[in-house]
Amino acid sequence: MGMKGVVLAGGTGSRLFPLTKITNKHLLPVYDKPMIYYPIQTLVDAGIEDILIVTGGRNAGDFLRLLANGKEFGLTHLDYTYQEGEGGIAEALGLAHHFGNGNRLCVILGDNIIEGSIRAAVEDFRKQPSGAKILLKQVQDAERFGVADIAGGKILGIEEKPKKPKSDLAVTGIYLYDETVFDKVQRLKRSDRGEMEITDVNNAYIAEGTMTFAHLDGWWTDAGTFESLLRANNLVADTREHRGE
Ligand code: G1P
Repeated sequence: MGMKGVVLAGGTGSRLFPLTKITNKHLLPVYDKPMIYYPIQTLVDAGIEDILIVTGGRNAGDFLRLLANGKEFGLTHLDYTYQEGEGGIAEALGLAHHFGNGNRLCVILGDNIIEGSIRAAVEDFRKQPSGAKILLKQVQDAERFGVADIAGGKILGIEEKPKKPKSDLAVTGIYLYDETVFDKVQRLKRSDRGEMEITDVNNAYIAEGTMTFAHLDGWWTDAGTFESLLRANNLVADTREHRGE
């Protein structure tokens, strides 16, 4: 079985209101491209070309108009699906069940932008017999993210947006899953904020003892708040300048 890619690009983008009053967060500009171009390129650069875009809200049709069949990325086809309502990241992932069809998945949040490549992690995961793999990044503001508790080279658990983080290692929005991910999604209960949390999916793999992790090279940012959106723009611009593009 191969590896397929899923880009999660739903949500209301409430933290970016009023930028997201009229359009979807993932269509906003990050330097010279719409935000969603970056996670798609990350998948394509890792050799993943069978990709599903999960959207929602009132602007879902705009994704089709923007991306069409993915020619911009050298693709000949893209899949799309639609998330009704606001059920959270794990619910959006659940919509990929049919698409996954027994394959492994590389799931990326539509607002996660990276400098480097995830190819090595993807290749390592291909060799892993089962389970999942996450990518961690050292950050200054861990309380904004899922935070990994690591001891003796092992991951003990992940806390979602803890007030007192146990480490400075954020769980980035790039996840590698085997086909059992959908059983785990189905068994989830809604969190206090009424959402299906991706952190609960990851903790299910940790409880099972099948979660591995790697550290992501190069810069990483999300782009879901005014500060991080500005940072994403600046990081992309600086990197382009540095590479002389
Ligand atoms: C989500 C996840 C969080 C993760 C982050 C990465 O948070 O819930 O665990 O660290 O993405 O971008 P959100 O930004 O959707 O609140």
